[in-house]
Amino acid sequence: MIIGILKEARTGERRVSATPQTVTRLIDLGYEVVVDPGAGVEASFLDAAYTASGASIDNALAADIVLGVNPPSRPQLERLRPGATLIGMLNPGIDADLVKDLAKRPITALAMDAVPRISRAQSMDVLSSMGSVAGYRAVLEAGHQFGRFFTGQVTAAGKVPPTKVLVVGAGVAGLAAIGTARSLGAIVRATDPRPEVADQVESLGGQYIAIESPEVEISSTGYAKEMGDDYKEREARLYASQCEEVDIIITTALIPGRAAPRLIDAAMVASMRSGSVVVDMAAANGGNVEGTVPGEVVRTDNGVILIGYTDLAGRMPAQASQLYGTNVVNLLKLMTPDGDGQLVLDQTDVVQRSITVVHDGELTWPPPPVHVSATPAAPASGKAADAPVEASEERRPMSPARRAALLGVIGAAFFVVAALSPPALLGHLTVFALAIVVGFYVIGKVHHALHTPLMSVTNAISGIIVVGALLQIGHRGDTAITAVAAVAILLASINVFGGFAVTQRMLGMFQRS
Ligand code: NAI
Repeated sequence: MIIGILKEARTGERRVSATPQTVTRLIDLGYEVVVDPGAGVEASFLDAAYTASGASIDNALAADIVLGVNPPSRPQLERLRPGATLIGMLNPGIDADLVKDLAKRPITALAMDAVPRISRAQSMDVLSSMGSVAGYRAVLEAGHQFGRFFTGQVTAAGKVPPTKVLVVGAGVAGLAAIGTARSLGAIVRATDPRPEVADQVESLGGQYIAIESPEVEISSTGYAKEMGDDYKEREARLYASQCEEVDIIITTALIPGRAAPRLIDAAMVASMRSGSVVVDMAAANGGNVEGTVPGEVVRTDNGVILIGYTDLAGRMPAQASQLYGTNVVNLLKLMTPDGDGQLVLDQTDVVQRSITVVHDGELTWPPPPVHVSATPAAPASGKAADAPVEASEERRPMSPARRAALLGVIGAAFFVVAALSPPALLGHLTVFALAIVVGFYVIGKVHHALHTPLMSVTNAISGIIVVGALLQIGHRGDTAITAVAAVAILLASINVFGGFAVTQRMLGMFQRS
């Protein structure tokens, strides 16, 4: 099959849906690739680079699979050939007119921005890729307008205080903004109604500001829900006091399927110091801040700069295109099971079903809801027929009754073994059972991210086996004992050194090259 890479029709769009690097990977999947002339020029990818990667430069709309970043223009849509598959960020949840127009054509349309946020689909999640680029860029735009140092400085000419940044919403874009502002030296605070993000904020060097409200609860979906009046009152008080204090605010608050929550009103903006900057990342979706204009920078009467850019990811077109293109390659890998350049759309697969807007000219939007589980969800109480598509890859917690039964069986087995064993073994068994209980509770209290280093360090305890085996190895010339001791030394050494090697590898992932 032939894949066509569109030149984006939307004014100002600089991204492209494939880069020379991702074209090579598409060809490896068995496809031929055709690129519209000049499709990647705005992102610094020249036609010659695509040709060098094995693509040809021609009309992409005539291809079997047409890749774009944004939806095609209506004239482009008319020119798609019957049976073609269109893949792009189609925004089907919001753009109902486009969905209708897509369904009028005998094509298949797949929305990259509808990939569900489940672990298996992370490598195809364009919203996360674009969100993190946009969060980074939001800080740069804010810094550019702010025009001052982020980091505090002590100079011969006096002290420069560090910039204070407040990030509202610690999702993908928010976390990228926190990391970027911190790395520039700013003091960063962040808030989010999902308390589980506190660790992530702090691991990036930010300070998490919790809003103490009975409504706050750990999200079972990874997304925030619409908050009630109590929370809204408390957060409004927080924003009112923060506005008087901070220099830069970056708002990223989003509740899926709704207009962006309005969090910062005109009075709060009016209380900010002249020269302060607000980046409203949700400007395209209604805005978190009163007074922002989508796509523009406005200066309020009191000198506060409100940035409402809606193309933040597109302002870093080369990297945004590379990430987007890689997400598309990962999707096509899933849909090319035999690696033979033949696209197979499997509607029983939750990812593929979720992104299908139109299938062979038939409207399939909206897809069945996907249950996304960030933390173990409460057991479902509804009937099976009402249950959404299960895409969670988390293990369900064991029910209390099953747990009690299992403990009973283990306890009974232990007593039987204890009753039948000689007194010397009984002592060892008791120590063994106690070690299991203590180990379970100690390790259960350690954060998941630290399990690997903890295990490797505790593996080193098996060094005692090496000592014991060394004492036995030449025991009275008994070959069997020597052989067992040698095997014990080998296995225990693998355990000890392997554990440290794994930890070293893991730590390496966090080291800057
Ligand atoms: P996300 O879903 O990962 O994060 C949104 C966060 O907002 C969540 O952590 C959620 O808990 C939080 N939130 C919800 N209600 C809140 C409230 N009342 N107060 C504080 N936080 C609240 O979404 P992502 O990917 O981080 O995107 C964030 C926003 O940025 C979206 O509106 C998205 O459309 C926009 N965006 C804008 C771009 C631009 O060029 N302007 C480019 C990419 C994304």
